[in-house]
Amino acid sequence: MSEQALTTAEQLARQELIAMVPYQSARRLFSSADAQEDKIWLNANEAPGNGQYQLSATNINRYPDFQPDSLISAYSEYSGLTKDKVLATRGADEGIELIIRSFCKAYQDSILICPPTYGMYAISAENHGAAVVKVPLHSADLTLDLDGLKQQVGKVKVVFLCSPGNPTGNLLPQEQIIAAIKLFKGSAMVVVDEAYIEFSPEYSCAKLLSDFDNVIVLRTLSKAFALAGLRCGFTLANNDVITLLSKVIAPYPISAPVAQIASQVLTNDLAIMQTRVKQTNVFREQLSTWLSQQNWCSHVFTSDANFVLFRCTSNEDKARVFNLLLENNILIRDQSKQQQLENCLRISVGSETELTQLKKLLETL
Ligand SMILES: Cc1ncc(COP(=O)(O)O)c(C=O)c1O
Repeated sequence: MSEQALTTAEQLARQELIAMVPYQSARRLFSSADAQEDKIWLNANEAPGNGQYQLSATNINRYPDFQPDSLISAYSEYSGLTKDKVLATRGADEGIELIIRSFCKAYQDSILICPPTYGMYAISAENHGAAVVKVPLHSADLTLDLDGLKQQVGKVKVVFLCSPGNPTGNLLPQEQIIAAIKLFKGSAMVVVDEAYIEFSPEYSCAKLLSDFDNVIVLRTLSKAFALAGLRCGFTLANNDVITLLSKVIAPYPISAPVAQIASQVLTNDLAIMQTRVKQTNVFREQLSTWLSQQNWCSHVFTSDANFVLFRCTSNEDKARVFNLLLENNILIRDQSKQQQLENCLRISVGSETELTQLKKLLETL
């Protein structure tokens, strides 16, 4: 674009924003506004179905508390951590952003990611002017490359690990996570993104907070709790970290209705969430087995989350699968542009009916 063609805003803005491509979230790729009623949404790792929650609309004329006590108490109880280690945010995505803004000096500091991984770490970093260092997961088993990480000690401020990983689905071995935390002790914060941890809760790293001062854990109500539309997540960390992040977050991050619904669910509906998790894990295993039997599928990745990543035998087969589903209003996610994920697609584990429809259709290929 020539200089004259730039608008005033484009001339004034940080230049890297002009060319920057925003995160292609599932809802940006396919918005709910132009969705037909009968679309099947298997592209954002949400839970199927919806709940009914009671809102008392009193006091909506007042600002909410900075961190509503009912919500923080409920999450503290659920996570087994004291309240001073819990910060409620607008989704785990806001936690990612706050951490980068709190620890990285713009145009000076870097974050580290281990691709293939969740896209928002890099986007948030770019947005803030932080550089992104990549140490890919081992391609054979999608574990951490600890030697590669070692070489970056002292060069990065925040390390993002995702366990279970999105879009890969696998848990990282605990001993590797601990090794990474030890490697970066004193030089970088290690963030363990546990957006999907409810699907294998015994592997949570929240317990590591008592042993290490450079760990941060991210959580969300968007996945197993089936509340993606609520926008509510949690950052778990030692209190010195929570105090820092609290200086950067907006003054009233959690709206009163959000706090009310989230507190109700965390207090009353844990059993419902756990039943949903059990059911999802069964459907996931059925879907994985079925995928592994299809002649257009060359590999199904082991998943500890509510989605399954698989590789198609060729780029043509990948396109055939994706397009057939799309033409029939079933949305899944193409992951083939990610490092190491050529010809890969990801299916969120929806309801039994949704998955039956998906299989039936793909059997016609
Ligand atoms: C690994 C991971 N972290 C964080 C998020 C963001 O979650 P939230 O909806 O809480 O912002 C997602 C959403 O897909 C995710 O997959």
